Formats: sequence, C-alpha cells, structure tokens
Amino acid sequence: MMYRENTKPAQRTSEKAVQRCIEPKCAAYYGISERIYVCPRCKSPLEIECRLDTPEDAATFPKTWDARLASPDARDRSGVWRYRELLPFEEGVSVVTLAEGNTPVYDARRSARYCGLLALQLKHQGCNPTGSFKDTGMTAAVTQAVLLGARTVACASTGNTAASLAAYAARAGLQCAIVVPRGQITAAKLAQSMDYGAVICEIEGNFDDCMRLMQELGDDPSIYVANSINPFRIEGQKTVAFELMQQCRWHVPDHIVVPGGNMGNSSALGKGFGELLGLGLIERLPKLSIVQAEGAAPLARLFAGLDSARRVASLPDSIVPVENPQTLATAIKIGSPVSWKKALREVLKSGGQILTVSEQEIADAKAMIGRDGIGCEPASATTVAGIRKLVTAGHIGREESVVAVLTGHVLKDPDYVNQYHRGTLSLGFAASGATATAQSITGVFRNAPKQVAATKNAILECLQRKK
Ligand code: F0G
Repeated sequence: MMYRENTKPAQRTSEKAVQRCIEPKCAAYYGISERIYVCPRCKSPLEIECRLDTPEDAATFPKTWDARLASPDARDRSGVWRYRELLPFEEGVSVVTLAEGNTPVYDARRSARYCGLLALQLKHQGCNPTGSFKDTGMTAAVTQAVLLGARTVACASTGNTAASLAAYAARAGLQCAIVVPRGQITAAKLAQSMDYGAVICEIEGNFDDCMRLMQELGDDPSIYVANSINPFRIEGQKTVAFELMQQCRWHVPDHIVVPGGNMGNSSALGKGFGELLGLGLIERLPKLSIVQAEGAAPLARLFAGLDSARRVASLPDSIVPVENPQTLATAIKIGSPVSWKKALREVLKSGGQILTVSEQEIADAKAMIGRDGIGCEPASATTVAGIRKLVTAGHIGREESVVAVLTGHVLKDPDYVNQYHRGTLSLGFAASGATATAQSITGVFRNAPKQVAATKNAILECLQRKK
C-alpha cells in the first residue's frame, strides 16, 4: 500500500494515492488527476498505490465495514464504496453508484462433486446491477471520469464492459461510446447498451481490433477510456477481494479461480488480496488461478512455456497474441490481453496456475452449475471446468477450500443455453486457409423441452419417464 519515496515524482501527486508504473526498472509515479493510461515515460501499464496516513488503523477496518452493512448511506450500500478507506478517492467525493457489489457466495454441492471436491463456493458477480462483474470497476472509473471533467467515456468490449459503462455513463449524464466487433456480441448484452443510450460503433474485426482502436482514441482529449487499462477500473474491481473476505469472516480460501480474457479481473483480485496481506488483514494469499478457453489462451500458453526458475525471476517482456481467437464463450474471445503482465505477476506471487479448458468442458461445467440452481454465462463456467482439471492434476486437494468467481449472469447468453440443451451447439471456425470447419458440442447434461399432450396423464407419464 505504501508508495516508495525514492523515485522522483514525474508529476504532482495527491495526498492519498499515486499512479505508479508497474515496471520496477521505471517505477515513475504520477498524480491521480493525470489523465493517463500507460506510463508516459516507458509506456508500461499503471496501477494505483494508496497511502494510509496511519496504517495501524487498518486493524479497525473490518469492524467499520461490518457496521456499514446496516447503514442507509448510498456509499455504504455499495459493495465497492463500503471499502473506501482503500480506494484512491477523497472522503467527500460524490460517487456514481448503482449499489453494485453485494454479490452472494453460494455453496455449490453438485458442482463440488463434479470437480472432485468436498465443497465449492461460487462468488456470483453476475448478480451485479448490469449482470456482470464489470459494475464494480465502472462505478470507480465513471466517478473518476466525472472528477476529471470528462464529457465522453468509451470502451472496447465483448459486451459486458459496454453494458456496464453505458449504464454508469447514463447515471452520470455522460456520453458513452462503445466499440464492439460486429456480430460477435450476444443479443442480450447489445440490448442493454442500446437501452442505456450508448453510441454503439460496430466494427469489422474482433475484440483485439476494437481494443487497438481504443488505445488510439485514448490520446484524444475528448475521450476518457474505461477499459481495464484504466487503473481506476481495477481499483473498483479489487474490492471483490475485500467483500469476499468480509463474507468469509476473514478465513482465506486456499484457492480463488477466475476466467481470463483481457485480464483485468485477475489483476484486480490479486491486487486486492495483496493489499489485505500488506495491511495484516489476512495472513496469507489464496492461490489465484486463471482459466482460459482453449481457442483464446495466449496467457496460458505463455505460462506453460515458463520454466519453474523463470516463474520466480523477472516477468517476460512480451506475449505472443492469438491471431484469430475462437470460443463460444464470447466474453473471453480475446487474443491479445492488455493486462496480461499484471495478471501473470499476481498468479506467480500467489503460487496459482494458468490453464485452458475445451469448449465441451466449458459447456458441461456451465450446465452443472445450472443444476445447482445457479446460472452463469459460458465464460464464467471456465472456472468450474478448470477446477475439475486442477483437482485431477493434483494442484487442488479434495479437501481444500475453493472459491470460483462467476463473472456473468445466465441471461447474458440465452442462445448458448438453448443450443446446448437442444443439442445444436457448435463452434464454427475457419481453420487454416479458407476451409470452414465446425466442432459440435454434445451436451452431457442436456435438458431439452418435451412435446407433451395437453392432458394430466401425459404430464404425469412424462414425469415418470424423467425419474
Ligand atoms: N467473464 C465475463 C462474463 C466477461 O465479460 C469477461 C470480460 C471476462 C470473464 C474476462 O475478464 O477481461 O477481466 O479477464 N469481458 C470484457 C468485456 C472483455 O468487454 O465485457 P477479464
């Protein structure tokens, strides 16, 4: 939490926090009112470092945070602003909030058995106001946008970031521009952005092309970028670690498992746990593992190629992008993740893993989560699929405590669910050259509607057959 004073500040700094270059060789820091997304000196990503005047007060935070659960103050009702002592904003700031966070932790018995575990907990971030974990970041990013006097906020997106930004921008009265790959966003996510009044720019290309455009647009003074290259987004998202620990009464789970796309979520969770450890609020880090879809897994590939000696030495300088990423989990169809370095650093620090799962594994894990009465979107189900593999490989012990973070709501992608249960789900892609091939998914837990005569007996018979 404390920032070092040994590097000359490149810009004015605020009292409470600075923006710090993550590259240790540079480590320049900048004021929090500088509108920057990468280090102006070396172009590396930035992260926020908060400074507590009296770090010894941290021991009292859990009590304060518990007391706020019963408070009517809008900031206390938010599962982000409740933890404001650890956020880079001044106390009196007016926040843009939809009462985000406050998401449940569920016991998932069937999914636990499916994974080979005695117990499994699911932290359901899909229960946020716009149906995904992005809201915890957007409340911070849009609050910062207002403080900076921005008129237009913008993002590239596979759908959820856009829906979330559109909603928070509408709350703040800001113009919202979203850039999305045409035909690759689920109807439900796009519908949200339309409803919240965003200017929707559909482009020919994939998410990585949208992200490149966003990095160019970020140079324009009229645009404030709210993708996870924006370090204030990460500050909001890190509070998920605080909320989870409050819910677990400060018992640290052995493992936390998240999906990986652009890698903001994993970076943020790692940062949150690191800060709690630094303040003495937890006594160890949970092992943070990231799961990617097989066809969109640049970081898992990089991780697999690191030998164990390098895993503890310095981070690699570059990542080889996946040129044409493919997965039915469209939220994480990303070949060139912008926050890969931060995420890799957090995984290595915690002793976790980065792995891939197949389309079949994602689809069946999603249906299994559904059987626990908990819906999620495909990207979220990579976690349960990944945990099953980690248990089989011996990286997770049967009796260890494990929390999977579900990132999006089941109604984000009802077409996928329908196709899985009706047996028509398939991934079509152009392999090498122009030949298009399709990979069919055979739903192991299929549950299609049955055509039944409109009589009492027919329905009772149908129920008998189901047993
Ligand atoms: N799960 C869901 C439901 C997502 O929407 C995303 C990312 C991820 C997981 C991956 O999280 O990028 O932080 O590693 N969606 C972004 C978007 C890319 O535009 O909505 P990440």
